Amino acid sequence: MNADPTPTAPPQSPARPFRAPTGMRDVLPEQIPAWERLEGTARRLAHGCGYREIRPALLEETRLFTRSVGEVTDIVQKEMFTLVRGDDSFSLRPEGTAGTVRAYLEAQYHKQAPFQKLYYIGPMFRYERPQKGRERMFTQFGVECIGSTDPRLDAEAIDLAAGFFEALGIPRADGRGGGLEVRLNSMGDGADRDRYRDAVRAFLLPTIAEHCELCRSRFEKNPLRVLDCKNPRCQELNAGAPRILDFLSAENRAHFDAVRASLADLGRDSRVDAGIVRGLDYYTRTVFELHYPKLGARSALCGGGRYDHLVRDLGGPDLGAVGFAIGFTSTLLVLEELGLLGELAAKPADVYVAALDAALAREALQVCAELRRGGLSAVFDAEGRGLKSQFKQADKGRHPLVVVLGPDEHARGAVQLKHMARGEQREVPRGELAAAARAALGS
Ligand code: HAM
Repeated sequence: MNADPTPTAPPQSPARPFRAPTGMRDVLPEQIPAWERLEGTARRLAHGCGYREIRPALLEETRLFTRSVGEVTDIVQKEMFTLVRGDDSFSLRPEGTAGTVRAYLEAQYHKQAPFQKLYYIGPMFRYERPQKGRERMFTQFGVECIGSTDPRLDAEAIDLAAGFFEALGIPRADGRGGGLEVRLNSMGDGADRDRYRDAVRAFLLPTIAEHCELCRSRFEKNPLRVLDCKNPRCQELNAGAPRILDFLSAENRAHFDAVRASLADLGRDSRVDAGIVRGLDYYTRTVFELHYPKLGARSALCGGGRYDHLVRDLGGPDLGAVGFAIGFTSTLLVLEELGLLGELAAKPADVYVAALDAALAREALQVCAELRRGGLSAVFDAEGRGLKSQFKQADKGRHPLVVVLGPDEHARGAVQLKHMARGEQREVPRGELAAAARAALGS
């Protein structure tokens, strides 16, 4: 709707500058090399484990998240960006598991090839209070292995997540709060979860009136979410709550032990942490987080676990599944803290084409096109610089080669080719330029 009574009037300058919405950030070209390194590492390691990329929709029906992430979770109750159009309600995806399982079912994989290893890299949206390491639009690298309950897959997923950070240069835990820690727990499943829920309810009952309003409202529907509350007073009251590990059935205990044994086979240390409850309802059995404790309260770089009934809950067969998601925001913070981002710089174009005078400017465009057809990247000056200033620009841009277009060379059908690092310059026929430039770069 346009509120302006004179829509044809020229637009007025805005009262305040336009900015990205709070908690949302542009990734600028200077930052792209670091992002490409994260993305490249993620793809390489995921492919190494047989994962294939999936790109689910960014917007889903809101009820998909209510059904999977859970009605009484922070994400669904407070953090979704929801759009209502007529009778339809959509939400920007706050996480990737629900959409991946929805896409898996919609593509009928459960009928044709139920065992699927799928990964994604892309933006997620949560209306959280922005703070260090937390944004409203953030990128996750996630994997979802659907179609099996084999505990080796839990260990493989944990090893893949930890391997991602190691490949980036983040060290393993040193036992003194430095390095990356793998924390593991089980959420149980079925009857043992029910017994655990009853025990938590009984534990909370005497103090529930002293908890925050949200906890009090969650107590009836899902008392386990009360244990997840970040309010310091509630956390105090939650101290000494029953531990799920004491309630596990023989089968679920065996699964947990098998995951730990497989992790040991892979040479991965992990710490059992009964405090991991995860903020999403779909988890069953294995849950884990990877922490870099120096980041403080929000130290989780990765969270994941098993969700053995989500496929069924979203309308498919009862298939086991396990996965994780790594946040790029916190990963980049750690890399920065460790001084590992400095050496990452964008690769400049191979060739800078300098023209001696304005009459040769048209030729510069053509020469660039020829070089590109020859497999090289090339740029030309478009800001009207003189030759000296073009050379300065080429130097500043760290272009390894400069082609100089001069009137005499033009008359001879030739150009000058300069190798910047060696300071060597020679005349090359136009027709041989791309080959000569490739040879100069290769040597
Ligand atoms: P999650 O623990 O909600 O799990 O998120 C995983 C990771 O995403 C976190 O450890 C954190 O690094 C990052 N993250 C979450 N919220 C934000 C935020 N507001 N700003 C920056 N980074 C954030 C999930 O999303 C599950 N879908 C993981 C999973 C996949 N479980 C099974 N499969």
